[in-house]
Amino acid sequence: MKQLQEKIRTDGKVLSDSVLKVDSFLNHQIDPVLMQAIGEEVASKFADEGITKILTLESSGIAPAVMTGLVLGVPVVFARKRKSLTLISDLYTASVHSFTKNETNDISVSKDYIKSDDVVLILDDFLANGQAVLGLIDIIEQADAALSGVAIVIEKGFQNGGKMIRDRGVRVESLAIISSLANGKVEFIGEVSA
Ligand code: G4P
Ligand code: NA
Ligand code: NA
Repeated sequence: MKQLQEKIRTDGKVLSDSVLKVDSFLNHQIDPVLMQAIGEEVASKFADEGITKILTLESSGIAPAVMTGLVLGVPVVFARKRKSLTLISDLYTASVHSFTKNETNDISVSKDYIKSDDVVLILDDFLANGQAVLGLIDIIEQADAALSGVAIVIEKGFQNGGKMIRDRGVRVESLAIISSLANGKVEFIGEVSA
């Protein structure tokens, strides 16, 4: 997605060879016009899939997920990272290990909001090692719902999450795939380095 790549180039900050900071439009401040374009792009890719629900993870997945849900006309559910007041028996839960933060957290979704007749699209802001997506897939499987695919705003193609999820036979559509952050420079897959 050209508009997204240009935004990453102009406003993204390369913190290291493996971390891209996008606080100015996605992870802290949010650019609604860009989020709307992202929603339209994701919705067009999955328009014929009979999706009934979008599943994301708080907090940064919510903005692009809501925009996609608006275009597709379906509800958006975000998995919670914090303990909720709901009885544990009323929740689907999964453990998500972050290699980046070196910690494991439980995520949860109320059983009220994903049902066995749902066709679910997972959407998240970043795909790095794929652990968050695996946790969301686990929850969809517990609910006995159907997984349509995974939409990602920014995939770090040099980390293994994308390959791991695709190797499971899951359709993964990333709007921008970064091949390298070396030397403070963002390179996207499909581009020839200058
Ligand atoms: P994984 O799910 O793909 O295995 O990711 P990982 O544990 O490596 O990432 C942990 C958190 O860091 C996630 O956000 C993820 O979106 C984010 N993240 C990973 N790599 C990058 C990066 O290069 N840049 C930025 N900006 N974020 C990255 P989170 O903790 O769930 O936070 P939230 O932003 O959704 O609240
Ligand atoms: Na994030
Ligand atoms: Na995220």
